[in-house]
Amino acid sequence: MRSHHCPNRSMFPLPFLGLALVLLISLVPPTSSCTEQEKSSLLQLLAGFSQDGGLAASWRKDTDCCTWEGITCSPNRTVSDVLLASRGIEGSISQFLGNLTGLLRLNLSCNSLSGGLPLELVSSSSIIVLDVSFNRLTGGLSELPSSTPARPLQVVNVSSNLFTGRFPSTWEVMKSLVALNAKNNSFTGQLPTILCLSAPSFTVLELSFNEFSGNIPPGLGNCSMLKLLSAGYNNLSGTLPDDVFKVTSLEHLSLPNNWLEGALNGIIKLKNLVSLDLGGNELSGNIPESIGELKSLEEQGQLLKPAQSRKNRSSAQ
Ligand SMILES: *[C@@H]1O[C@H](CO)[C@@H](O)[C@H](O)[C@H]1NC(C)=O
Ligand SMILES: *[C@@H]1O[C@H](CO)[C@@H](O)[C@H](O)[C@H]1NC(C)=O
Ligand SMILES: *[C@@H]1O[C@H](CO)[C@@H](O)[C@H](O)[C@H]1NC(C)=O
Ligand SMILES: *[C@@H]1O[C@H](CO)[C@@H](O)[C@H](O)[C@H]1NC(C)=O
Ligand SMILES: *[C@@H]1O[C@H](CO)[C@@H](O)[C@H](O)[C@H]1NC(C)=O
Ligand SMILES: *[C@@H]1O[C@H](CO)[C@@H](O)[C@H](O)[C@H]1NC(C)=O
Ligand SMILES: *[C@@H]1O[C@H](CO)[C@@H](O)[C@H](O)[C@H]1NC(C)=O
Ligand SMILES: *[C@@H]1O[C@H](CO)[C@@H](O)[C@H](O)[C@H]1NC(C)=O
Repeated sequence: MRSHHCPNRSMFPLPFLGLALVLLISLVPPTSSCTEQEKSSLLQLLAGFSQDGGLAASWRKDTDCCTWEGITCSPNRTVSDVLLASRGIEGSISQFLGNLTGLLRLNLSCNSLSGGLPLELVSSSSIIVLDVSFNRLTGGLSELPSSTPARPLQVVNVSSNLFTGRFPSTWEVMKSLVALNAKNNSFTGQLPTILCLSAPSFTVLELSFNEFSGNIPPGLGNCSMLKLLSAGYNNLSGTLPDDVFKVTSLEHLSLPNNWLEGALNGIIKLKNLVSLDLGGNELSGNIPESIGELKSLEEQGQLLKPAQSRKNRSSAQ
């Protein structure tokens, strides 16, 4: 059954595709095709699929892999994009993808992939966008070897899988991270706020529907570009740290259905808030009178839901 979150794959109309192919063939000298090594890495990926969604028809050994479905190459004919979202693919993700030295974007979202997320992809020295959301991937996210230099990943989406375990503590090497979406898995341990210390451009941190627990650790205060912090439906406890109120860039703060407690007075400092949801916590204090000063707040009704809206995990989808 396909989730409504996953769009159906849209195809170019055939005449356009035909034209594009003619242009491609006439512009590219026949000698420049992808290297045998790039081709073999992609064929390893294909070999790991038990259901390839029809890819094998186009991924043929005797053709230039830059012309294969879902593949885009840079001008120097190294594979830059592997875009295979919503193709009904089953099987595992090959670690050999890590051998594509010019790979910038990998999107395998909305398939039925299982097994783990290979370390080679997370530690890649080229990948900037990694989206494996809406699959059935299991296991933990890999820690990186301590000697790993700064990595270029900007967008990581591992949401809606079956990942477990603590969030890796070694991901500080992702100094370019802008968005991390790990929603709807079974991650445990503390919220990975440590990432704020290393990635100055961090903008989106989406961690809701997991099993994160304990206090919200220090670190958020250093996320000076953060616009969205979402960690509802976890098992967070303790007070909302002052750190949160330092993130004046925040536009969306959503922490419902945890066990957070304490006063909310600091909220007034978040001048750019557009939406706020803290319902279903133990936050006992009154909403500060001054909340009305948050001019941009559109969803004040969401602030604190009635006390009886306790956590009900069975209604969390
Ligand atoms: C390709 O990747 C595999 C698995 O990560 C690795 O063992 C192998 O050395 C790589 N091959 C080349 C030519 O880089
Ligand atoms: C090819 O171009 C890409 C993107 O510009 C670059 O990352 C990669 O290093 C280049 N590879 C080679 C072999 O020149
Ligand atoms: C991956 O592809 C899906 C389907 O086209 C798209 O909705 C999603 O935004 C893509 N992910 C990224 C990070 O661009
Ligand atoms: C995954 O999350 C990223 C970052 O929030 C987003 O850009 C992308 O569209 C998401 N992918 C899907 C399939 O929703
Ligand atoms: C959560 O992930 C499962 C797959 O693991 C998916 O079927 C479901 O739609 C996701 N729920 C939400 C709210 O994204
Ligand atoms: C984090 O923030 C604190 C105080 O807000 C500051 O002293 C420290 O230098 C910051 N650290 C980094 C790595 O930006
Ligand atoms: C949630 O946290 C409480 C303490 O705050 C603990 O007793 C409980 O075992 C935790 N539950 C899960 C599922 O982690
Ligand atoms: C919890 O949610 C489920 C599903 O929405 C609902 O059937 C059930 O009545 C709820 N339980 C409580 C105690 O609210």
